[in-house]
Amino acid sequence: GAPVQVNIAKLGEGQLLKVQWRGQTIGVLRRSKANLDDLPQVDAKLRDPMSEDSIQPEYITGEPRALRPEFLVVNMHCTHLGCVPTLVPQVGPQPFEADWKGGFYCPCHKSKFDMAGRVYQGVPAPTNLTIPPYSFADDNTIIIG
Ligand code: FES
Repeated sequence: GAPVQVNIAKLGEGQLLKVQWRGQTIGVLRRSKANLDDLPQVDAKLRDPMSEDSIQPEYITGEPRALRPEFLVVNMHCTHLGCVPTLVPQVGPQPFEADWKGGFYCPCHKSKFDMAGRVYQGVPAPTNLTIPPYSFADDNTIIIG
């Protein structure tokens, strides 16, 4: 499949844009400073906080898992059986804990991921959501692929 261009100029904080690439749904999420500050705080509840056993390009490192921390570019398909999780940004209804910092919830078998697509412990998904290869063509344009 050919690379896909995504214009992020109008993507507001907290918004998730979905595009198709190679038959997969790719999400681009604009995270707030608070979202990024929250990431290290959930590390202890995650299965693979530094993404050592998860799939991402070699140039993606650390907790934010992004070239520019504000923008998470993530393959939306759950690493369990491929359903597309829902963005749950705030404290929500059950099954979310009171100190839920936001993230993704897979409705198929209840896997939970944080705002960097990192999987929580005790759910069926074995690894973090996958980060596809991508780059910035300019400040407002992401190239996926
Ligand atoms: Fe997401 Fe099973 S497909 S938890």
